Amino acid sequence: MHRDLRGWRVLLTGASQGIGEALALELAKSGARLALTARSEDKLDAVVQAVRIAGGEAHPFPADLTHEEERKSMLACASQTLGGLDGIINNAGLGSWNHFADGTEEGFREMMEINFFAPAELMRDAIPLLMKGYKPAIMNVSSRCGRCALPSWTEYSASKAALVGLTESLRTEYARFGIDVLMALPGKTATDFLSNCRLASGKAQLKFEEGMAPATVAKAIISALVRNKRESWIGRDSYWMLMIQRFMPGLIRRKLASKVRELYAPAA
Ligand SMILES: NC(=O)c1ccc[n+]([C@@H]2O[C@H](COP(=O)([O-])OP(=O)(O)OC[C@H]3O[C@@H](n4cnc5c(N)ncnc54)[C@H](OP(=O)(O)O)[C@@H]3O)[C@@H](O)[C@H]2O)c1
Repeated sequence: MHRDLRGWRVLLTGASQGIGEALALELAKSGARLALTARSEDKLDAVVQAVRIAGGEAHPFPADLTHEEERKSMLACASQTLGGLDGIINNAGLGSWNHFADGTEEGFREMMEINFFAPAELMRDAIPLLMKGYKPAIMNVSSRCGRCALPSWTEYSASKAALVGLTESLRTEYARFGIDVLMALPGKTATDFLSNCRLASGKAQLKFEEGMAPATVAKAIISALVRNKRESWIGRDSYWMLMIQRFMPGLIRRKLASKVRELYAPAA
């Protein structure tokens, strides 16, 4: 199946920065018509301007997706402006890098709201719109952590694994509506993701600046949409980790546990 993105009407969440910003610019190059959403109005407007300067079509719909009323009204306004909807890219997300023992229920629930419940409810509310769309599809941006949970990314990994499970279930459920449900599992990407994390008290040395360029991830996601690829592992780190996890899960478990013991060993 080939999906031509020229004129494809797509709602993109988390479009104000990082991977979402790169996705907006790359989607516009493919000729897609864009409804962009995130909370930060100024950043969203800047992305809309950049798309328009490059000759594309984009409209801003600022909203906090964890608030039901804002989410529903954003969806209604976006589809009205575009004259319908063919696709949704659930990209908005929040990280948390902390030892589970130091976390709180409130923080964990906050993360589940944006990483899991917001895309879930958006996918439910959008059924009648997408059913009428052209080659309709939903792309959920999970993470390699959604398939191979990482220590100190515990709450984040759980939220992304929940999104993986929901995606796999809806893929078959939404077959009756003719809506394709796809997912992308990127590895480390050079965005402000770490500084935007709810907590950043983990101990390992993380070098997000050495990760993939956001445009690389955006291009891989768009290619998956065009080819209707069910699951995309994006980046070398994601590919190798998920391959080892699939064929030698015990090895990953032992390596990660030994690293955690080393990092949290009491000072001699
Ligand atoms: N960077 C990585 O290494 C990496 C790796 C694998 C997967 N991912 C996933 O890729 C996606 C994009 O990550 P990124 O690196 O681009 O992160 P980012 O730079 O921190 O961007 C996150 C986006 O989500 C939006 N967002 C957060 N909370 C929101 C809320 N309550 N309502 C509406 N929008 C909200 C933010 O916009 P506002 O703040 O303006 O609302 C922003 O546009 C995330 O789902 C992330 O989990 C990232």
